[in-house]
Amino acid sequence: MTEDTSRAPNSRIPNMRSMTPEERLQAVSAEAALSNDDARVLSGRDVLPPALADGMIENVIGKFELPMGVATNFTVNGRDYLVPMAVEEPSVVAAASYMARIARDNGGFQASSDRPVMRAQIQVLGVGDTAGARHRILQNAEALIALANSRDKVLIGLGGGCKDIEVHVFDDTPAGPMVVLHLIVDVRDAMGANTVNTMAEMLAPEVEKITGGKVRLRILSNLADLRLARARVELRPDTLSTDTLEGAEVARGMVEASALAIVDPYRAATHNKGIMNGIDPVVIATGNDWRAIEAGAHAFAARSGRYTSLTRWELAGDGRLVGTIELPMALGLVGGATKTHPAAQAALRLMKVQSASELAQVTAAVGLAQNMAAIRALATEGIQRGHMALHARNIAITAGASGADIDRVARAIVAAGDISVDAARALLADTPGGAGNDV
Ligand code: MEV
Repeated sequence: MTEDTSRAPNSRIPNMRSMTPEERLQAVSAEAALSNDDARVLSGRDVLPPALADGMIENVIGKFELPMGVATNFTVNGRDYLVPMAVEEPSVVAAASYMARIARDNGGFQASSDRPVMRAQIQVLGVGDTAGARHRILQNAEALIALANSRDKVLIGLGGGCKDIEVHVFDDTPAGPMVVLHLIVDVRDAMGANTVNTMAEMLAPEVEKITGGKVRLRILSNLADLRLARARVELRPDTLSTDTLEGAEVARGMVEASALAIVDPYRAATHNKGIMNGIDPVVIATGNDWRAIEAGAHAFAARSGRYTSLTRWELAGDGRLVGTIELPMALGLVGGATKTHPAAQAALRLMKVQSASELAQVTAAVGLAQNMAAIRALATEGIQRGHMALHARNIAITAGASGADIDRVARAIVAAGDISVDAARALLADTPGGAGNDV
């Protein structure tokens, strides 16, 4: 197979669930025209040689594996995406795919994002005249920006670089008054931490000269509030109905669920955790820094002083349910593990994203889909039925089931209302040739 980066895959792959992992891999590889090498890497076989792992972090003793799933049905801005998700929690991939399918019937997700702009902070202490120091920095802004852009010619050549400077003053902190200079840097297709940290460190002596103070910290801010990604979905109520409820009632329930997350931090924390259930697996699969994404998301959710929801669900005048998400999305296609980890490279090729901004938009859409799944379930039958049905598969595997036995045993223990390893073992023991007979 040769790689064809021009053609968008069809993300609608019917019956994914009933395929074997090998069949799924073949299906997504064919859709995304992946090379045999990429397909092998995505399967998890011989991905990270010990020497490479040893070079990535310190004191390496081995590797930790996660299942890699692919969410289907995603359409974002009219283009289909197969979305790699590395995650240990059952039901995440299924829920994202299911909601993406409903969204697809409604035209898919619409997404946008800001330019890939990060902030770096330079903390200046020991300044008596904080207002005066602020003015002196702003007066020298052009020279500071020029100095910041004097090293990384590649970034400048790509249209990135330091674009602006902000100055924040804190007159009253536990360590006295502080002036904090922000470098506003377009990092193009990088996550940008190394780029902006290098700039901040380089500028520190000049900032000390200008302010007369002492520079302490020189580091990026993970509150990447100039690098927001947004996604929106507009759903006809009839596409939301469940076995027992009309779509309009489901939509109303979802708006009510969303309202609690808007006003109550206790609910917002769980609501946003559900959003990150979708976002983190994509961030991990593509080799990006999920701690940075988590930090940015939660800081952004608390930006008003009260922690709130990262999504909104509203009813439009014509009865459609409109869901929106907006959050910082500092994702890169180059640098760090995105480049060194072979599976991250293959995952990016599976997604066929051409820029960090496009990756940010698709990831935001996955977060919105995951939130849609959670509140749709919570507002109707609750999450336990679906959750436990998938959890039952894990229990069946733990009890020793393999192949077709996994689903059979899982279904049986759900139907019996006893989702336990003992119940699964008992069923396997009753199966001629089943795993239970081997022990
Ligand atoms: C579970 O991992 C995530 C949920 O709790 C999210 C939510 O409550 O919105 C289902």
